[in-house]
Amino acid sequence: MSNPRVAIVGATGAVGRVALQILEERGFAMDALRLTASHRSVGKTMIYKGQEITIEATTAELLAECDLAFVSANDDISQEIGVLGPQQGCVVIDDSGVWRMDPSVPLVVPEINADDVDGHKGLLAIPNCSTTPLAMTLAALGAKNPIKRVIASTYQSVSGTGSAAVAELNTQAAQVLAGEPTTAESYPHQIAFNVLPHIGSLKEDGYYSEEVKMRQETQKILHRPDIAISTTCVRVPVPISHSEAVNIEFERPMDPDEARELLAAFPGIVVVDDPANAKYPMPIDAAGTDETYVGRIRKDSSHPNGLALWIVSDNLRKGAATNAIQIAEEVAKRGAWLRERV
Ligand SMILES: NC(=O)c1ccc[n+]([C@@H]2O[C@H](COP(=O)([O-])OP(=O)(O)OC[C@H]3O[C@@H](n4cnc5c(N)ncnc54)[C@H](OP(=O)(O)O)[C@@H]3O)[C@@H](O)[C@H]2O)c1
Repeated sequence: MSNPRVAIVGATGAVGRVALQILEERGFAMDALRLTASHRSVGKTMIYKGQEITIEATTAELLAECDLAFVSANDDISQEIGVLGPQQGCVVIDDSGVWRMDPSVPLVVPEINADDVDGHKGLLAIPNCSTTPLAMTLAALGAKNPIKRVIASTYQSVSGTGSAAVAELNTQAAQVLAGEPTTAESYPHQIAFNVLPHIGSLKEDGYYSEEVKMRQETQKILHRPDIAISTTCVRVPVPISHSEAVNIEFERPMDPDEARELLAAFPGIVVVDDPANAKYPMPIDAAGTDETYVGRIRKDSSHPNGLALWIVSDNLRKGAATNAIQIAEEVAKRGAWLRERV
């Protein structure tokens, strides 16, 4: 048995760069690493474990020489590689929203539904970066006291849109401080010193697509299509880490102390909850870490069975690259490759 030969498709992007770093941090066992990106980047190099790797184009031949591909590019590439990769014998773990709700594609947060990896057909998906921390929190609490309804409002960082949006925030902030006019390209409006209640495309029911993703993906991961979920997704001028204000209605009352215990015992969740001393999760503390942080845990004053809380998680790590690599580790643990050689 050998280790998988791995490709990162979209290695130069916000998530791809972090994936490269996390593969090294976790010592992911592999026999080869190939990096691909757009034609703009082909021929440039990136460093992995001190070695230069030349960026290539994403071709059928390259996929045929790999056992695993992390696809972290855009919807068109995900659409194409989600089919082509498995055809070439390469297991694809896709970061986009293209495949998540396909019934044949496992949508996995390993701390919650690792067994959904079983029986995959060569294509697996990670959830949206706001879904993952919400689903983990609900899984931790709902195991003890079934959840009926969830209302979540997000405060999502610009790196969730990709590296161009991070550059745009920095440029606009400098322009505003210099008293110069700004131009908006990543969003319909200026994001520096502003918030935008608009992520994705508008749907007929008045929700934007990010809000629909959070609802549908959470229901799929938890195997609970019956949980009522309403979300409002908001882009804020923060570089990294998404925050969420969440109200949860349970079947029975949930004591905040019990909730803290359940959350602290759940893998990947850290409780930071000392509001009297101004200690609560914040994006600047979560950035660069793999944990989902939960705080401000209190009874919801509007409902006897309600709980209110605050969640923060690094969207590039647990919201994307870390979760994808954890799924790959589950595939490796099960030996669930498409080829015999691995
Ligand atoms: N950002 C997040 O927090 C987050 C979280 C969860 C999921 N996701 C998903 O992850 C994916 C990547 O997001 P991102 O934020 O990293 O975007 P990004 O920073 O804009 O990076 C996009 C990447 O795609 C590459 N690319 C573009 N055209 C390509 C092509 N024809 N072939 C191969 N690669 C190509 C780009 O290469 P060049 O550098 O050469 O242009 C770049 O490496 C998206 O599907 C997104 O929905 C993102």
